[in-house]
Amino acid sequence: MTESATKTPPVKTLPDAQTVTSVKHWTDSLFSFRVTRPQSLRFRSGEFVMIGLMQTDEKTGKEKPLLRAYSIASPNWDEELEFYSIKVPDGPLTSRLQHIKEGDEIILRPKPVGTLVHDALLPGKRVWFLATGTGLAPFASLMRDPETYEKFDEVIMMHTCRTVEELEYGKQLVEGLQNDELIGEMVEGKLKYYPTATREEFHHMGRITDNLKSGKVFEDLGLAPMNPETDRAMVCGSLAFNKDVMEVLESFGLREGANSEPREYVVEKAFVGEGV
Ligand SMILES: Cc1cc2nc3c(=O)[nH]c(=O)nc-3n(C[C@H](O)[C@H](O)[C@H](O)COP(=O)(O)OP(=O)(O)OC[C@H]3O[C@@H](n4cnc5c(N)ncnc54)[C@H](O)[C@@H]3O)c2cc1C
Ligand SMILES: NC(=O)c1ccc[n+]([C@@H]2O[C@H](COP(=O)([O-])OP(=O)(O)OC[C@H]3O[C@@H](n4cnc5c(N)ncnc54)[C@H](OP(=O)(O)O)[C@@H]3O)[C@@H](O)[C@H]2O)c1
Repeated sequence: MTESATKTPPVKTLPDAQTVTSVKHWTDSLFSFRVTRPQSLRFRSGEFVMIGLMQTDEKTGKEKPLLRAYSIASPNWDEELEFYSIKVPDGPLTSRLQHIKEGDEIILRPKPVGTLVHDALLPGKRVWFLATGTGLAPFASLMRDPETYEKFDEVIMMHTCRTVEELEYGKQLVEGLQNDELIGEMVEGKLKYYPTATREEFHHMGRITDNLKSGKVFEDLGLAPMNPETDRAMVCGSLAFNKDVMEVLESFGLREGANSEPREYVVEKAFVGEGV
């Protein structure tokens, strides 16, 4: 084969196909991967898209797409797209998606939507990113977006998982940001990272809700308590977490906003679970 032949991009065989460029497994139940970005795709950091694989319809035997919502974990200036994913053992999509490798194709519907966007918040001084589990994904995008540091003096990333190893993707991302050529200087002194584990010994422990209610996080970071005049928040986690943390935010006087009506905080589900 000639050199030019080896450089020919692979033929796209799927509808809205994108090619996987790298995959990293973080734990038995978490992995991240990067794919090519459709040239026409514009999105606001924090939004999600539908991605998936083809599957055979059991009744008709025909191939059809199996799609799920995924937050884009990369910022809007990145030339590729990154995703951070759970591996649900019997999950229709992730039981297969977890086996993708470089060069494979996935389906990506280029229609980004979502509520975790700067436009849905009123201007403020501090922004709190509150996430459990894979709910970190939209903030992996927002933490890497210069607009976040242009709009706010302080950015506080609270991420809670059951175990310490489940925090690793977020930890490495934050460390990488501090040394990043593009936004390292903007981040310095502004980004405060507060990871906690709930079921394993760690230097910071406990649920986000408890650490906000008790005031422990304000004490640990040397910050004033939340105030609706200055503080804004974005929330992404399980249904139960979202519900409980919304109550805490409301107790500080923050009100839920939306793209159409910006207010002090916004919420998105990290997944659709069994109920609250
Ligand atoms: C707006 C939105 C954005 C999302 N973004 C992401 C993302 O960035 N990364 C990601 O991994 N998932 C994300 N999800 C969840 C995703 O859409 C799928 O549910 C997930 O990929 C599992 O797909 P599945 O077909 O294997 O199992 P499903 O049939 O979809 O889920 C089976 C069960 O697994 C559990 N589950 C599903 N997803 C998760 C999760 N992420 N964390 C913990 N438990 C879960 C739930 O109990 C669910 O009932 C998002 C969901 C929504 C609504
Ligand atoms: N080892 C396992 O068995 C295992 C591991 C991962 C995921 N899963 C399955 O996947 C599903 C989702 O797992 P996940 O880890 O992404 O999410 P999760 O079970 O919601 O836990 C993520 C983190 O959020 C905290 N949390 C849960 N509910 C909360 C609430 N109402 N308020 C404040 N904090 C809350 C948890 O603390 P607490 O520890 O205090 O609950 C944990 O630290 C679970 O339902 C589970 O079935 C299982």
